[in-house]
Amino acid sequence: MKRTSIVVGLVTTVVVVILSAIFLIGASDPAERISTNTTAVARLSIPPLLEPTIENGISHYTLMIGTAEHNYMQGRMTDTYSYNGMSVLGPTLRLRSGASVAISVTNALEEVTTTHWHGADVPAEDDGGPHSMIVPGATWIADFDVIQPAATLWYHPHAHGFTAEHVYYGAAGLIIIEDDNPAAASLPSTYGVDDIPVIIQDRTFKDDGQLDFSIDQGEDGQLYSTLTVNGTINPFIEVPNGLVRLRLLNGSQGRVYRLGVHGADMTKIASDGGYLARPVALEQLVLAPGDRAEVIVNVGSESAALVDTTFGRVLELRPNGLASRTGVLPDELATIERISESEITVNRHFRMGDVRNFWEFDARWAINGVQFDMDRIDFTVQLGDTERWTLTSDDGQHVFHPHQIQFQILAINGEPPPPEEAGWEDSVLVNPDREVVIATRFKSYAAEETPYMFHCHILDHEDLGMMGQFVIVE
Ligand code: C2O
Ligand code: CU
Ligand code: CU
Repeated sequence: MKRTSIVVGLVTTVVVVILSAIFLIGASDPAERISTNTTAVARLSIPPLLEPTIENGISHYTLMIGTAEHNYMQGRMTDTYSYNGMSVLGPTLRLRSGASVAISVTNALEEVTTTHWHGADVPAEDDGGPHSMIVPGATWIADFDVIQPAATLWYHPHAHGFTAEHVYYGAAGLIIIEDDNPAAASLPSTYGVDDIPVIIQDRTFKDDGQLDFSIDQGEDGQLYSTLTVNGTINPFIEVPNGLVRLRLLNGSQGRVYRLGVHGADMTKIASDGGYLARPVALEQLVLAPGDRAEVIVNVGSESAALVDTTFGRVLELRPNGLASRTGVLPDELATIERISESEITVNRHFRMGDVRNFWEFDARWAINGVQFDMDRIDFTVQLGDTERWTLTSDDGQHVFHPHQIQFQILAINGEPPPPEEAGWEDSVLVNPDREVVIATRFKSYAAEETPYMFHCHILDHEDLGMMGQFVIVE
């Protein structure tokens, strides 16, 4: 090394140290807490169900992404993105397991975007990842058979470098898959009545009421100050007395929620990929960006509240005095055939972290040392194989999410997962203190030419390059 470059290196290091000290002081969490002692002010908005038209046995759904305006706060309109002309977010797609569907997505924005079916087991060309770009004015059609069991999934844009921004402005919606599972008959299932979509997102508003968006290079991604649920601030919903199902989705850019229920019990019945084997009573549930969970709350004669350790109350559940249709939870929900060690033929290791050099300012979030390259396939899977993946973080908190597959957690720090994490998952939290080993069977679709993504679901990290691609071959 020449003397000048040593000097430049030293000066840069000093500057970086001083700047990071300033950032650390300034980086306190801006979250505005809502006390459970207060009464919620706004009725929770419920995204409408999107009805399909059925033609030749195929259920057709029509989506259009565009700009809109939403009344987050009384008297001020906020510019948003949404689907189907809604003021924010998109309608809920209810799909039937076993059905053939065709979903058309028209881009009415003035920029390129995509729409991805998060958690769906679909062919790569119908998956809506960064390769399925929809230019302004164009329509893209995803057609596939619904080959997975009942679950709560979601859809959102996935244009590389713009995912965080498009989701933040409001483009996202829920997907509910229903099936013939007999256990479901005794669960609350009237949409918007005792089966409630709960899309949790943090936002920051500027003085003029507009959304304040930014990408944060740090390990948490950007954390915003105001909590919104289905686009409503400080919401309540009137629900029957008795069992109520909440379909929780963390649609935030980077924030992890630690949720519980005040004034009633909370029981988890489903994870990302569908029902757990049996209901699990929980005090607290960790929901990382991209994660879903279905919980049952037994609402009594007083208001109960969904709460978060940081924000306080998330949603007030106000009893309407009517008795709920459902009384007792079934003991068994689904049969989950555990993946055995003997099935596994391939092992992979995914190391997540920031690979910047000490003289660089900008984070270079990467998986196995490399950042996203749309022209590079990172690995190839053989259709029919069962693989074991070890997920570790060298630094920072991450949410590992592969497309197409639902996986099982084999171990967290060498221990078997607790029952609430022993179902099917498509997103999992990994940090330097939490090493996760997962296993998955590749049994549905192969496509040599079209890759599936795997990435961190902290959207700042994803947009900054923490993503790779794999193909599945026959
Ligand atoms: Cu929500 Cu690539 O995913
Ligand atoms: Cu996804
Ligand atoms: Cu990450």
